[in-house]
Amino acid sequence: MNPEQHNNPDTPLPDVVMPKCPPRNLLRGQKALVTGANSGIGRSVALHLAEEGADVVVNYIFDEQSAIDVVTEIKRKGGQAIAINADVSKENQVKAMFAQMFDEFGTIDILVNNAGIQSDAAFDEMTLEQWNKVLGINLTGQFLCAREATREFKRRGVVREISCAAGKIISMSSVHEVIPWAGHVNYAASKGGVMLMNKSLAQEVAPYRIRVNSVCPGAIRTPINRDAWETPEAYADLMKLIPYNRIGEPDDISRAVVWLASDDSDYANGISLFIDGGMTLYPGFTEGG
Ligand code: BGC
Repeated sequence: MNPEQHNNPDTPLPDVVMPKCPPRNLLRGQKALVTGANSGIGRSVALHLAEEGADVVVNYIFDEQSAIDVVTEIKRKGGQAIAINADVSKENQVKAMFAQMFDEFGTIDILVNNAGIQSDAAFDEMTLEQWNKVLGINLTGQFLCAREATREFKRRGVVREISCAAGKIISMSSVHEVIPWAGHVNYAASKGGVMLMNKSLAQEVAPYRIRVNSVCPGAIRTPINRDAWETPEAYADLMKLIPYNRIGEPDDISRAVVWLASDDSDYANGISLFIDGGMTLYPGFTEGG
């Protein structure tokens, strides 16, 4: 890298991301369920868990073909995966998804509560439907899936050859579990809810050796926030919020999820791990204050 460029924070750096490390088989023999795994961060998480040796359920709600594509890619690399359709906000569909997973894989070791949506509106124009839909998927959906997983983790307990823990729940939260977000009140409320649901659940189930942690992504290049990075103008505006001066990539998040799913993080419980290029560092205070 050109050091002159490196020393000058006003010169935008190319979007360099970390080179990929060879898989370490950290999750060998484990069974994982990733909700919303057919696109964006969820897709990348499913592929990374499989590369580390986990068998993966690829949950999706729309676009079956994209879920099948993720399954095919995992199998092509020698992994095991199945796609299961379920709307995580519906109790009966969540129960049916877990039943199918247990039929096919026997149990669950890792739940990645990833499915999430945005439905943005000015507060006084937000419909109850928009509010309920976002809270339904982002918060109630995480509750329903975490509850089914917790039941199985408690029933089965620790299996030493598989993991030190009886189970791991990893939630996709957001920087907006702490950063207020005008025009996105339903979304920020859902992520604030995820934060305290997870920390309370972590406290409750820690004695069973069940670990519950959140990953809090900043701006990651996925379809959900296309408007924020697609044009050079939007990208430049976004960089005002990111001291590290590049957008995040789904792989930046997946590496953290693999760590939280593995025994490498065995003593981490109830944390919110911010992976955001410094978005939560109040970049507006870089000068002044
Ligand atoms: C949202 C993105 C947004 C990012 C940073 C995420 O949780 O889904 O749309 O770009 O937070 O604001």
